[in-house]
Parts: sequence; C-alpha cells; structure tokens
Amino acid sequence: MKIIINIQRYNPDIDTASYFQKYDVEAEPTERLLDALMQIKRFQDGSLGFRKSCAHGVCGSDAMRINGKDGLACKTLIKDVAQKDGDTVTVEPLHHLPVQRDLIVDQKDFFDKYRFIKPYLINDEEVEGKERQQTQEERMAFDDTTNCILCAACYSACPVLDKKPDFVGPAAIAQAYRFIADSRDRALDERLELLDNKTGVWPCENHFKCTQACPRSILITKRINQTKSLIKKHRR
Ligand code: SF4
Ligand code: FES
Repeated sequence: MKIIINIQRYNPDIDTASYFQKYDVEAEPTERLLDALMQIKRFQDGSLGFRKSCAHGVCGSDAMRINGKDGLACKTLIKDVAQKDGDTVTVEPLHHLPVQRDLIVDQKDFFDKYRFIKPYLINDEEVEGKERQQTQEERMAFDDTTNCILCAACYSACPVLDKKPDFVGPAAIAQAYRFIADSRDRALDERLELLDNKTGVWPCENHFKCTQACPRSILITKRINQTKSLIKKHRR
C-alpha cells in the first residue's frame, strides 16, 4: 500500500521554524509506523531525527503525536492510521516539551516532575526476614501503575498543560499513587503534601485524555482522583 507520511521537521542548526515534509512510503497495513519511519531514514532521508530503542512498546522512547493522537510509533499499525492508497499519516513531536530536532523532544521537564514525586519506596523500618511482603490484594491496589514506561504520551495529551505548564502532569501523579497505595511505603503524608497545591493534583480537570493516550492501559485519571480523595481525607 502506498501512503504519505507527513512529518514535522525542525533542525535548530538551519531552521528558524518548524515545517512539514511529505514522504511517499510503500508499507504493509500490518507493519508498524516505526517501520515506515525507519524505512524513510534508511532509504530516503538520513537526516530525519526520532528516538527508538526496543521497538516493542517497552522502552517508551518513540512516543509521538500520530494523526493528532499521542502514542508509540512501535505500537501503531499502518492500517490503524491509513486505510487506503494515498492516505496521509501526520506525525509530530510530543506536545508540552521543547523540540530538540524533528520528532525528538527535550524530556527534562517531564523527568524533573517525575523525580519531584519521589518515585521510590520510602521505609526505614527493619526488614523482617528477607523481604517486605504484601498480599496479592495489596499489590493489586496499584498494579496497573507499575507498567508505566515513562513515554510521556499522557503528558503530551493533557489539555491542562496547554494552559498550566507548571502542572506536574498525569504520569507523575500516577507514579506518586504507585507508592501512596503501596502497603510497604511509609511516606504517605509527605507524598500527599507534595501534591496538595496548585501545581499538584488540583489542576486536573478529568479530561481523561491521558488515560486514552496511555499505551500501557494505566488507569491514570482514576489514580489522580483517588489521590485527590486521599488528600481530602487526610486534611481533616
Ligand atoms: S502513564 Fe502511560 S502514557 Fe503516561 S508515561 Fe506512563 S506509560 Fe506513558
Ligand atoms: S521503541 Fe521502545 S517503546 Fe517503542
């Protein structure tokens, strides 16, 4: 099938503004968009910049905006974004993060916000036996959140970040909840306090765009709302 891939380009060394460039690509409907991008880079235009590593939805490096929706190029099949010969697939870098080159964004803000929520277990108590145990039920309270690959698709999809760039964002809150709900963690008050402010959980307006964008099916909006409820409960 012959399709057109329309890619946002920007090279800081020579361009004053971004622009779109079209490439004609021959691709099978069952191939992934990442295959098409690699085909362009290998055989048409070696200057095209994008990140990728695992090619299997695990590393989170090839998140981008595809026909207006955020997702992973390696988990997007051509047939899901182009149905017939001549269809165009528009590919842009993630929103809310500065573009470094073409589809490559500077992830610093995203990871700074992730580090801010202290994404590690806090527990100074002596370990009884070899490990800190928890029941299956205790683990299931936050199981989905452990699947995060920090791809930032949710961060790009969040409409709140259009108007409030300081908002900590959906991934950071979902990862805060991952430890808030962990029966082995002992920093609940500190974690809730970090998010009880105008850049924490409260700007979230429940648009559900993060949940829809997440390639790992994490219940992000639900986890944000559970965090809000816990903050209210702990304030009293
Ligand atoms: S929550 Fe989902 S969309 Fe957001 S960074 Fe993690 S895996 Fe990516
Ligand atoms: S290349 Fe690793 S998630 Fe797509």
